[in-house]
Amino acid sequence: MTTSVNPGSGREPAPPWALLAELTHACPLHCPYCSNPLELARRSTELSTDEWTDVLRQAGEMGVVHTHLSGGEPLLRPDLERIVAAAEGAGIYTQLVTSGTGLDEARLAALTAAGLRSVQLSVQHADPRAADRIAGRPASFAAKERAAALVRRAGLPLGLNVVLHRDNLDAVDALIELGVAWGADRIELANTQFYGWGLLNRAALLPTRDQLARARETVERRREQLAGRIDLVWVVPDYFDGVAKPCMGGWGAVSLTVTPDGTVLPCPAAASLPDLDPPTVRDHPLAWIWEHSAAFNRFRGTEWMTGPCRSCARREEDFGGCRCQAFALTGDAARTDPACALSPDHHLVREPADAGRSEPPPYVYRRPGAVPAPAPPSPPVP
Ligand code: SF4
Ligand code: FES
Repeated sequence: MTTSVNPGSGREPAPPWALLAELTHACPLHCPYCSNPLELARRSTELSTDEWTDVLRQAGEMGVVHTHLSGGEPLLRPDLERIVAAAEGAGIYTQLVTSGTGLDEARLAALTAAGLRSVQLSVQHADPRAADRIAGRPASFAAKERAAALVRRAGLPLGLNVVLHRDNLDAVDALIELGVAWGADRIELANTQFYGWGLLNRAALLPTRDQLARARETVERRREQLAGRIDLVWVVPDYFDGVAKPCMGGWGAVSLTVTPDGTVLPCPAAASLPDLDPPTVRDHPLAWIWEHSAAFNRFRGTEWMTGPCRSCARREEDFGGCRCQAFALTGDAARTDPACALSPDHHLVREPADAGRSEPPPYVYRRPGAVPAPAPPSPPVP
């Protein structure tokens, strides 16, 4: 049982507006950059339909207005339609985040009838063979192409989500062209964030500075061309700019994540933090978790900060960066995110980013039980 902690100003936190619902960790794809934890939740531990219905009811009452129904692959839940209907009944806008594998016309019609509002499709590459290699599954690209056509025919907004890395950054122009051809309303080009499987595969995925510079230029050019037609989003790379991102819009500030077994986290990667003692919807109401749990109050606001964040002018803008990255790289989640050039640990991102690599190692594909425990983080610099 967690205790009530409120280290901030003593005021109740503003309610969340977004919920990431990780319905299952099962997935037909095996992407090496996956942000799911290395230890994937077993299907036997997943929340039931009734439990998800109750979570969404509580979320709606708290003021959540948007949910990403994600995974793993949410289409593997046979009760997905009922979960969508529960969100709709709670007044929550639903976006399905899917690989497209397993989507057919009848399923999409049932989901749309249940209240599904939009679809975000993951894409690994514009070239089918390269895409299938990155996803670790033959014919996955063809399934995505079919899924995109179905979504457009159903009249739902379509977003493409591309995680960018060494093996697809040079294809950014072709990926944008693919989005245009598939009728996407939005293309999110998200440079890999190195947690979980992404961190494990960092040496294979880290791009060169030249690759990034070329891709950035391409995105700027295409954004001008496509203005008013397609929303082109570029999620900045963590290791290269010397700037920490305002991860999740701040810890426990705008959104919460519910994992397949009902654990509630301030961000999808927070399960990796030791001693967080994250609460679960099986033991506590969602509103109590948001407002009073130790896990959600641990890094809320700025009181927890040490130097250099504590006295930094940007602390209310980036909230000291990402706690999960700070832990993954330094072993201490309360340190300044090493992505920030002011961090005493900045060398931990600068050195790998600057290292010239010849032959990258092969991917460790995301598969249950595929991974050895991750290497222990380097000790923090005092
Ligand atoms: Fe942000 Fe902390 Fe870096 Fe300041 S020192 S820019 S608050 S991460
Ligand atoms: Fe957890 Fe950034 S991913 S705080």
